[in-house]
Amino acid sequence: MNTIKKSILFLFAAASFTACKKEVKIEKTSTTVIKDNMATDAVTKSDYATMADGTKIEKYTLKNKNGMTMEVITFGGIITSLTAPDKDGKYQDIVLGYTKADDYFNGNPYFFGAIIGRYGNRIAKGKFSLDGKPYQLTVNDGPNSLHGGKGFDKRVWTADAATDGMPSIRLSYTSKDGEEGYPGNLTTAVIYTLTDDNALEITYDAETDKKTIVNLTQHSYFNLSGDFKTILDHELELKADKMLPVDATLIPTGELKAVAGTPFDFTTLKQIGKDINAADDQLKKGQGYDHCWVFTDASKELREVGALYHKASGRYMQVFTDQPSIQFYSGNFLDGTKASKNGGKYEKRSGLCLETQHYPDSPNEPKFPTTTLNPGEKYHTKTVYKFSVK
Ligand code: BGC
Repeated sequence: MNTIKKSILFLFAAASFTACKKEVKIEKTSTTVIKDNMATDAVTKSDYATMADGTKIEKYTLKNKNGMTMEVITFGGIITSLTAPDKDGKYQDIVLGYTKADDYFNGNPYFFGAIIGRYGNRIAKGKFSLDGKPYQLTVNDGPNSLHGGKGFDKRVWTADAATDGMPSIRLSYTSKDGEEGYPGNLTTAVIYTLTDDNALEITYDAETDKKTIVNLTQHSYFNLSGDFKTILDHELELKADKMLPVDATLIPTGELKAVAGTPFDFTTLKQIGKDINAADDQLKKGQGYDHCWVFTDASKELREVGALYHKASGRYMQVFTDQPSIQFYSGNFLDGTKASKNGGKYEKRSGLCLETQHYPDSPNEPKFPTTTLNPGEKYHTKTVYKFSVK
């Protein structure tokens, strides 16, 4: 961009900033978003790809003051790359993603990097009722509904730079009453922020005009090694003394089971590969880890709930959330059919998800914490993935 154009853009940004105090509006046609007190390239916008129906998808690149970057596309709010430093200060991409835009647009069976909604995880047979009124959701995973059917991961979101002084974008999407079978118009906003201390902060907000159910999460697959080969050498800690056993279709049985003395005990850092092949009925059902862990600390405050560590690179990722549980999915269904970013293929267990959320199938389990959202209530949750080395 030449200097004159830069100045015009700056003036435009400065004017908008003065007009609305905090927020600097993004000029529609610009490729650079200028934000107050940040480097000019803290948030940049560019064309990503055009879908078959002509919809243009944009890509936002966020960069914090240390050089950590994140790329997000407006399709599915998908995080297509996220870099973190290793023990030598080398930044490498640590999330799985496709090499071709079409792989995101045409199915994305793995839900790589996406915002998940309205209901993250499974609902048995896609059925639930509210105040005695039955609802039928789209069934897309054997007999069950998974991740909202044609969910938020497959919707086009509206993006805007957010306002908190650090590189940040706000994605919004309104899900119509009846979409995929869910009641109520649900207005949703997800904000991704890269903080100065190398954390990715995610906030989720939603409101409805009819009683409904909501359980939003993020489906990034992490591999802290930088080579996308395996997560079996990663160590995991989950501050959770119980997990939810599942049936053959991965629906919780309703029981909360103590993890002590089982392969599901991650109460202190443990290598993921250590017990993953143990003779265990639950591991057999999940084809590895694909379960919900219930945090020992049941408070609704943002607290540290676990961590992921890759010794060779030194990368350490702490997880904080205000949610009651987490789905740890060890990438069991990755099958080597998709090209990885470093020239190989995404093999089984080459990435893992740590999806902070409410328990699966809660609408059908009165004992589980509620996922009902009423008109007038504000759904607001927060999760933080913080990167450092050790
Ligand atoms: C689920 C897995 C599912 C995967 C799809 C995870 O959140 O727990 O069972 O196969 O999403 O990528």
